[in-house]
Amino acid sequence: MSRKVFPFATPNPVPLYLAPMAGVSESPFRRLCHAHGADVVVTEFLSAEGIRRENEATISKLRFAPEERPIGVQIFGADPTAMADAAAMVTDLFQPDFVDINFGCPVKKVVRRNGGSGCLKDLDLVQQIIRAVVQATPLPVTVKTRSGWNEEMRDPVGIALRMQDAGAKVFTLHARTRTQMYSGQANWDEIAKVVEALDIPVLGNGDIKTALDAKRMLDHTKADGLMIGRGSYGQPWIFRQTRALINGEALPETPGVHERFAIALGHARMVQEYEVDPIGAAIEFRKHLGWYVKGLPNSAELRGKLHQVRDFAEVETIFTNYLAFYEEYVARDLKADDPDISDLTCEAA
Ligand SMILES: Cc1cc2nc3c(=O)[nH]c(=O)nc-3n(C[C@H](O)[C@H](O)[C@H](O)COP(=O)(O)O)c2cc1C
Repeated sequence: MSRKVFPFATPNPVPLYLAPMAGVSESPFRRLCHAHGADVVVTEFLSAEGIRRENEATISKLRFAPEERPIGVQIFGADPTAMADAAAMVTDLFQPDFVDINFGCPVKKVVRRNGGSGCLKDLDLVQQIIRAVVQATPLPVTVKTRSGWNEEMRDPVGIALRMQDAGAKVFTLHARTRTQMYSGQANWDEIAKVVEALDIPVLGNGDIKTALDAKRMLDHTKADGLMIGRGSYGQPWIFRQTRALINGEALPETPGVHERFAIALGHARMVQEYEVDPIGAAIEFRKHLGWYVKGLPNSAELRGKLHQVRDFAEVETIFTNYLAFYEEYVARDLKADDPDISDLTCEAA
């Protein structure tokens, strides 16, 4: 079977996307994931109204660096005219590689005005929006959605066909309904059915937590590409590991604690250079720090310290002290549940 063609050049025939994630997939994290093997990245969702009104906070989130390409800008809204205007502005001002429309966001504030997955209750409106955006930009228009509004309206293939018919050039399915939010399991069988039904490339999304999961999803669904969201938290190397498995190579080793900290500090430096408010940036970065140390010995105490940082220099000190503890931990061959752990702290020895 011949592969479906992506409407922009991708570094690999089965591209791995970093999922759009509000508050997470910002420019520094997108660059980091690219450096660790993500082929394509997408901005977090941006309101068409905010773009149209040139809201400063919204416009600042449209900035991206050349090394982030290929990149898509994701927009949401329920008014076809506003969506078309926003797509035209994004095209003129930023020239991303594609414009992605969000039909998946489950958050109340968004769906109340029929944005995000709110549109899934009215597929005529969905088609009007896609057509208006396609008319407004020469860039490829792609879509990301859920399997339906609720169980009763669950119809991923029907939704996908309507979106393809309206001019979408890539279709991403997060195989849950809106009412499921993030509960239960993403239904990978639905992704497989959509892959079979569509002529355009389909990206599988939902519940890829490790590179092995990613390979399993690809084998199960035969998707044309994969999109990874929460599985990239604190482990951007998931993309490189997944690529190796797709290529039939051995799973590259997961970075040890020293390398992990070096990656986290590199990420922190990128954030520091990018953000204008250093304290706000450090506070916002706490969540990433928590993710980077997940699963390490004595990680609860370490996380507790990292969740209080107000500047990036503190992170280096905490890591240095933790490494002193860790060396001793390894030397004494302790296990996390060993009672002796109580005499070790994250403070410098
Ligand atoms: C914190 C967070 C923010 C998200 N923001 C967006 C967004 O801006 N646009 C979007 O299309 N999906 C958004 N999503 C959904 C993800 O892109 C993805 O579809 C979902 O997390 C399932 O994939 P995963 O299991 O790989 O995380 C968000 C998810 C999370 C956890």
